[in-house]
Amino acid sequence: MAKISAIVLAAGQGKRMKSSLPKVAHPVAGKPMLWHVARAAKDAGITEIVFVLGHGREKVIGTTQEFGGKVAVQEAQLGTGDAARCGLAALSPGANEVVVLCGDAPLVRSRTLRTLLTARRRKKAAASVLTGILPDPAGYGRVLRNPDGTVARIVEEKDGGPEIRKVREVNSGTYVFDRKFLARNLPRLSDVNVQREYYLTDLVVQAHQEGKIVVPVVARDPDEVRGINSRKELAEATEILRQAKIDALLDAGVTFVAPDRTYIEPEVLVGADSLIEPGVVLLGRTRIGKGVRIQAGCVVENCRVDDGAQLKPYSVLTDSHVRKGAIVGPFAHLRPEADIGEDARIGNFVEVKKSRIGKGSKANHLAYIGDSFVGKKANIGAGTITCNFDGLAKHTTVIGDGVFVGSDTQFVAPVKIGKGALIGAGATITGDVPPYALALSRSEQKNIADWVIRRMPQLLKKAGLAIPPLKKKA
Ligand code: UD1
Ligand code: CA
Repeated sequence: MAKISAIVLAAGQGKRMKSSLPKVAHPVAGKPMLWHVARAAKDAGITEIVFVLGHGREKVIGTTQEFGGKVAVQEAQLGTGDAARCGLAALSPGANEVVVLCGDAPLVRSRTLRTLLTARRRKKAAASVLTGILPDPAGYGRVLRNPDGTVARIVEEKDGGPEIRKVREVNSGTYVFDRKFLARNLPRLSDVNVQREYYLTDLVVQAHQEGKIVVPVVARDPDEVRGINSRKELAEATEILRQAKIDALLDAGVTFVAPDRTYIEPEVLVGADSLIEPGVVLLGRTRIGKGVRIQAGCVVENCRVDDGAQLKPYSVLTDSHVRKGAIVGPFAHLRPEADIGEDARIGNFVEVKKSRIGKGSKANHLAYIGDSFVGKKANIGAGTITCNFDGLAKHTTVIGDGVFVGSDTQFVAPVKIGKGALIGAGATITGDVPPYALALSRSEQKNIADWVIRRMPQLLKKAGLAIPPLKKKA
C-alpha cells in the first residue's frame, strides 16, 4: 500500500480568540484542538504527521510529541500554501500521498479521511477535497463545481463577489494530494489576492493546467467541517462532541437522568447498565464499569471505577481506582493514587491520597488517609488523620487487616499497626502497635466535683438550670 503522510497546518495565531495561547492549543472537550486533528489522522492509519507550527509553538509541542510527530516551523504566516510548503519539506521521501489538515478544524473524523483517500485514488485525481454544505457558509472558502461535478475553483469569501457568497458548499481545509503534484505546484503559487497570501486552494486551478482533476467529497455531517476561529465556535465544538459522546453511551446501554446536564469527554468509557445523574463530569481517560451509579455532582478524572461501585453525590476523584462494589461519598475526595478495595466504604468528608484501602474496609466519616496501606476489613473511625508529612518528607502508615481505629486518632507516620489491633479513641500513635494489642494514648481522666457550681454558676443560669446546693466534702 502507498505510504500516506499528513501535514497539519497550525502556525496561525488566531487573532479572534483574543488569547495569548495559540489558537490550536485551545481545548475542545478537554484536549487541544490540534490533538483532535492528530488523532483523526492517526486513527485513519497515518503514521507520519508533520505539524506546521509558528506562533507560541512551545505551547503545543507536547501534543506533537504525543503523536510522534515532526515539527516544521513557519516563521512568517504567509498563507496556507506557504504552510503546506514548509510541511512538505519535512516529509520523509517515501510518502506518496499527503493528507493536509487544518489544526483549527478539530471535528474531522478518521472515517472521513479514509473516504477522502479512496475518492482521490479511485479517480486518479491530483487531489480530493472535503467540503460541507452549510446553512451559514459565511467566512469559508466556497467550492465551485464543473459541470461534471469535479471542483472548478475554491474562492475565498474575501476575494469573491456577492454571487460567491451565495454558494453554500464550503472548503473544509482538509485535502488529500498526490505528493508529486504537491511538490511540483506549491512553489508555483502566487500571493496576488486580497489577503496577499499564498493560498493552498489555488492548487485546484494548477491541477487543471496539468490536465488533472480535483474531486470533492461532501461531509455527511456538516459539523465535521467546522473551522474554529472564535471562543463561541470553540464552545460549540465542545458541545457537539459532548452530545455525540452521550448519544454513543446511550446507545451502549448507559442511563442518563439528565443527558444535557452531563459533561463527558470523548475518551471516557462507561459500561452498560450504569446510571449517571445530573451534573456529573467525567474527564480524561476515566473508565467506568458496568452497573455503576454515579450520583449528582461527581467530578471524576482519569479514574477506574469497577462494576457495581457507587459514587454518592458531590464526590471528587482524580487518578484513582474504585474497585467492585465499593461506595464512595457523599462529599468524598479521592486524590491521585487512591485505591479503594472491593466493597470498601469511603464516607463523607473523607480524603484519601496515595493509599490502598483493603477489601471491605471502612472510613465513613471525616478522615485524612495519605501514603497508607490499610488491610482488609479495617475500621477507621471518624476524625482519624494520618500525619504523613513532617514538613520535609512524606511517611507511610500501615494498618493491618481487621484493625479497629477509634475516633479522633492521629497516626504520626512512619508507623505500623499489626493486624487485629485496637486503637482507643483519641490516640496519638507515634510508635508501632503489635498485632492484637490495645493501644491507648491519653492522659487519665480527672473529675473535680461541683467545680461548675463553685466556679462558674453563671453557666448554669445561662442554660436555665437551677443551681443545686454544694455537696459536703467527705
Ligand atoms: C482556510 C481556507 C478556506 C477554508 C477554511 C476552512 C485557504 C486559502 N483558505 O481559510 O478555503 O474554507 O480554511 O476552515 O486555504 N495556517 C498556517 N500558516 C499560515 C496560514 C494558516 O499554518 O500562514 C493554518 C492556520 O493555523 C489554520 C489553517 O492553516 O489552522 C487555516 O488557516 P486560516 O487562516 O484559519 O484560514 P481560513 O481563512 O479559515
Ligand atoms: Ca480557519
